[in-house]
Amino acid sequence: MVRHGASDNAAAQIELHKKLAPRYAYRYSFEFSRLFQQDWHAEMISHVPAGSKRILDLGCGTGFFLAELDARHPGSVGLDISHEMLLVSSEYVPSARLVTANAEKLPFQPGCFDVVFCKGSLHHTRDHVGFLSNCRESLRRDGVLIMSEPCNDNPVIRLARKILYKRSQHFDEGDEGFTRKGIVRLCERAGFDVTLVRKYGVLAYVFAGFPDHLGVLRYVPGNAWITRMFIGLDRMICAIPGLSIMGFHIVIVGKPRS
Ligand SMILES: C[S@@+](CC[C@H](N)C(=O)[O-])C[C@H]1O[C@@H](n2cnc3c(N)ncnc32)[C@H](O)[C@@H]1O
Repeated sequence: MVRHGASDNAAAQIELHKKLAPRYAYRYSFEFSRLFQQDWHAEMISHVPAGSKRILDLGCGTGFFLAELDARHPGSVGLDISHEMLLVSSEYVPSARLVTANAEKLPFQPGCFDVVFCKGSLHHTRDHVGFLSNCRESLRRDGVLIMSEPCNDNPVIRLARKILYKRSQHFDEGDEGFTRKGIVRLCERAGFDVTLVRKYGVLAYVFAGFPDHLGVLRYVPGNAWITRMFIGLDRMICAIPGLSIMGFHIVIVGKPRS
């Protein structure tokens, strides 16, 4: 695919996700894929402070995560740059508030959210510090940012992603994962104190994360059982310092610096 500069990246992401919207709906239609996503969501939601009410999901896509947020925190807001992705969201989560906008220019009053989630959207943008600064501004002073982004600490994963993002029409070549150090530094530059960094997803990520790409996996007998087993194994792998480099994603929790 073509590498886009910052100025036309928004248009490129809109175009890319126009084509991806039906694929995401398809991806989440398999039980084993849903099991994995639900575990991932539970990991992220576990960091929501008690009493949080006003929740924003930045880059909510087709709304599978937003549906879970809205069930726990009615009135959650989902924002995405892609109208086509949000059309799927509006079917999944009819009760949520959906906003079509660019996360690099958020249309909200400062301090109006208790929690901002961002699952896999930061790496689609080019001005990372700007994006994160917007998150900080839209949070109240003791609010929380909870993100999960592709992690490139492992050179093998970094290389595989580079090739995939370059070759596949389902990615933009300019999108990139983050190293642990790199994403922590970005958060700090945007005015966050990082309170938690944790790797997420190894075997279950590959096995159950993309049945739209690895179609054969949906025919594997017992794929839901295998996914559950891999989720358990991944948790152990990601908790062991020497092995956690194998994690495909990195979960980061940050609080606005006072
Ligand atoms: C990898 S998808 C993740 C979607 C969803 N969070 C999920 O986990 O299924 C990334 C999403 O970010 C959105 N996105 C990309 N750039 C964006 C931007 N500048 N502002 C808002 N959303 C953006 C895309 O349209 C897409 O829906």
